[in-house]
Amino acid sequence: MPDRNSDSRNFELVERLTEIGIALSSERDLGSLLHRIVFEGRKFTSADAGSLYLIEDGALVFKVAQNETLKSQGKPEGEFDFQLPLSRKSIAGYVALTGRPVNINDVYAIPAEAEYRWYAEFDKQTGYKTVSTLAVPMRDHRGETIGVLQLINSLDSSADVVPFRRDYEKLVTSLASQAAVAVNNGRLLARIRDLFGAFVRYSAAAIDARSHYTEGHTRRVAGLSLRVARAMNEETSGGLANVKFSEEEIEELNYAAWLHDIGKIGVKEHVLDKAARLFVGPRIDTITSRFESIKKGIAADCAQGKIEALRRGASDSELSRLDAEMHNQLAQVDDDLEFILTVNKANWISDEQRGRVKAISRKTFSASDGTPRRYLLPDEVRHLTVGRGNLTTEEYDEVQTHVDKTMRIIEKIPFTSELRNAPLYAASHHEKLDGKGYPKGLKGDDIPMQARILAAADIFEALTAKDRPYKAPIPLEKALGILKEEADAGHLDQRVVELIIRRRLYEGLE
Ligand SMILES: [Fe+2]
Ligand SMILES: [Fe+2]
Repeated sequence: MPDRNSDSRNFELVERLTEIGIALSSERDLGSLLHRIVFEGRKFTSADAGSLYLIEDGALVFKVAQNETLKSQGKPEGEFDFQLPLSRKSIAGYVALTGRPVNINDVYAIPAEAEYRWYAEFDKQTGYKTVSTLAVPMRDHRGETIGVLQLINSLDSSADVVPFRRDYEKLVTSLASQAAVAVNNGRLLARIRDLFGAFVRYSAAAIDARSHYTEGHTRRVAGLSLRVARAMNEETSGGLANVKFSEEEIEELNYAAWLHDIGKIGVKEHVLDKAARLFVGPRIDTITSRFESIKKGIAADCAQGKIEALRRGASDSELSRLDAEMHNQLAQVDDDLEFILTVNKANWISDEQRGRVKAISRKTFSASDGTPRRYLLPDEVRHLTVGRGNLTTEEYDEVQTHVDKTMRIIEKIPFTSELRNAPLYAASHHEKLDGKGYPKGLKGDDIPMQARILAAADIFEALTAKDRPYKAPIPLEKALGILKEEADAGHLDQRVVELIIRRRLYEGLE
């Protein structure tokens, strides 16, 4: 007569095993997967403790230790950074090499003829008492052993340690081989991720390297963006207390950051490389030599004035007043020129500075033919007073196209579902909360937090980058001031800017 009870119990166990198999195959993160395997193995066999080793470079590398008793005593659950030689002398090594499960009722009573022995050091160090153990090989679909799952101290219903049931050997071995397949998949996935990550970083670095002007930009924008997201996760009060990112969302943001400017591949190099408002070269030289002739004119006028004064029999004090006046005028011209040279190389100028450029442009001097001329020509003023960056309207339009190009390039990447929003975030890094950004002019809530983070990180990096030729970085305080202005103007998210400043997230950004 078949034993009905044992049939139904076996059926339940197999059912449970199937559920575990499904759960394991859905675990994407390798570390969590390994913990899950030990946890499920323990639950299945009512084991108090368990550990997992993977075979790496010819050794058994200890990956997971769980120990309920030690945990409840607040002690560490295992020894880490630990590996065993792949030899039959240890239980795990024996199982790995023979591919056979080992089920021992009492590890301190292993028969002398057995090839393996129990290493009692762990018990000695922790005061834990290992009695029964079941170690099974983790064999993948090709029958290759990739690791060992070792369960310790099976407990009965009154929490007393009992031997592991014999029928567990097969079932746990089956669980371990499902786990092995899941581990292989997890490793493969991790490798694909690493490969894809390296490819993305390499592509971004290649774009940045097209221009000294953008070198390292992407890396630093990604670095700062991730810091901001992680810092948000730590906020427990204020406007960001409810903004939380999962590890997958952080990875998604990382990809978005690394790819945000990839569309610059389609922007003309000379525009990317435009480091000064007037190209260093003939045009700024034209202004420099014009100012030289303005100074000569002032000196000549003053000399003329002095001659006339002498003819009139002017006093010494009047003559020295004329000299002082000339010096003042010359100093003013030098000061104006120096200001224009600074503005020419500035990444950003204030309204006040823009006003001064215009005021200088309105000053006049007499050309050699006697006709009055302005200090600066209208085209020079136009170039010198462009807002952010050094670009004229047409050049600016050209640069703006990079966002559409970014979107077009990266939406072709078959991101997995957890990363599907990376293209959207990347393509929204120039949107502004007040709707005045580009390319879509998205407003307020339509701009995801991830894009707001990228926007702030992008501006901060562009302002403070130290590796741009021909251009000095803006001092930190000023850059932070500009971020605040951008937030006050309704462009950037106040909370993001406040967080960057309060937590000094920019410090040590490489
Ligand atoms: Fe951009
Ligand atoms: Fe950027």
